[in-house]
Amino acid sequence: MERLPGFRDFYPEPLPSHDAGWSFDARQYIFDKWRETARRYGFREYDGPPLESLELFTTKSGDEIVGQLYNFTDKGDRAVALRPEMTPTLARMVAAHERNYKKPIKWFAIPQLFRYERQQKGRLREHFQFNADLIGETDPAADAELIALLIDTLRAFGLTKEDFVLRLSSRNAWHEFYETGRDGVSPSQKTDEYDFFQTIDKLERTPPQESETKLAALGFSLADVTQFIESGKPTVELQSILDNLAARGLREFVKVDYHVIRGLAYYTGTVFEAFDAKGEFRAIAGGGRYNNLVKLISGGRVDLPALGFGMGDVVLLELLRARDLLPKFDATTDVYVLIEDEPLRAQSLKLTQNLRAAGYAVDYPLTPTKSDKQFKRAQELKVGYTARVESDDYVRIRNMKTREEVVAGFADVANHLG
Ligand code: HAM
Repeated sequence: MERLPGFRDFYPEPLPSHDAGWSFDARQYIFDKWRETARRYGFREYDGPPLESLELFTTKSGDEIVGQLYNFTDKGDRAVALRPEMTPTLARMVAAHERNYKKPIKWFAIPQLFRYERQQKGRLREHFQFNADLIGETDPAADAELIALLIDTLRAFGLTKEDFVLRLSSRNAWHEFYETGRDGVSPSQKTDEYDFFQTIDKLERTPPQESETKLAALGFSLADVTQFIESGKPTVELQSILDNLAARGLREFVKVDYHVIRGLAYYTGTVFEAFDAKGEFRAIAGGGRYNNLVKLISGGRVDLPALGFGMGDVVLLELLRARDLLPKFDATTDVYVLIEDEPLRAQSLKLTQNLRAAGYAVDYPLTPTKSDKQFKRAQELKVGYTARVESDDYVRIRNMKTREEVVAGFADVANHLG
């Protein structure tokens, strides 16, 4: 039996083979950094169900994600889907209980998400995503706060401005371009804005001739679009975000880049994506404003502006590996209790229990085992100390690094451990 394509096994380090690829230790390291940065920015953690009603995602995520859904009919005849992203769930949760929470709401989550994607580098059918969202504030100060969190999250891994760049853009700017870009087309005829956005989103991945044809069908020219992108002139709103980031000393991580427009249908204003600086990898993170989603999902009952981003673990890990920024993951056993004298097993178990209760990571031989094997096991576990019960009252402790030995009273062992 093999695992499904696009899914991962997470083994403890050291990895059994090269193609096992993913380690639980690296995953935990990434989650810890995500949590730690979110905490420093005052974000609270939440979660929702991995399975949702299909309708939640078909409402406003857009065709691309809907085409990638893992969906089925459950035994109660409900149309359901594994979550491909967290944002609709968050909008649903906030709409249901927004009165319980002071605004702005600053929440984060680390969900596992499922998308039936074409397999390629940096894209799997399952990934974990750090989501941070800020709800209930329209001011660009909120956009800057969130972007600062994104930048500081990447910096927490040791990545610098030589390693990544945040490309900042605005759907408002593109909306204006769309509205004013076609002379003689009345507003009522302008119903294809999302098609236009989709064409811009794919510009960098599509041959120019193809984009030209698509844009012409929508009443635009590639030359005008290219010129607009190259102008790179920040809107008033983007300038305010840039100034805010400059005050924090984070301006150098951000570049205005109108190539970015984002594929998801619900974005309304500021949009951004983080990429590695050399452009070798897929996007590390992406996000933006979605001021209408909560209203849409609550059927008009709750109207709250919002914005957020998602950062996947897959590209991030590839980048950290490439830049050699992952620590070595060693086992974390502190003490190995040697049991060379079986009559002392009961007292050895008591010592093990005491040390564990005091917070040490402790291991010992489960069954009678030869001394040399026990010592080898202690070495493999890279423990700091071995402890051998010598009598009911005394324990011999060996510091594995310095090789120093001391004999301590049974109740006094923890005082001899560093
Ligand atoms: P997204 O751009 O679809 O946005 O995903 C965000 C990030 O998740 C991507 O930049 C990428 O790192 C990672 N990612 C996405 N799909 C895959 C995949 N198949 N395999 C590996 N990694 C992947 C969203 O999902 C929005 N809901 C983010 C958001 C939160 N917007 C507002 N709040």
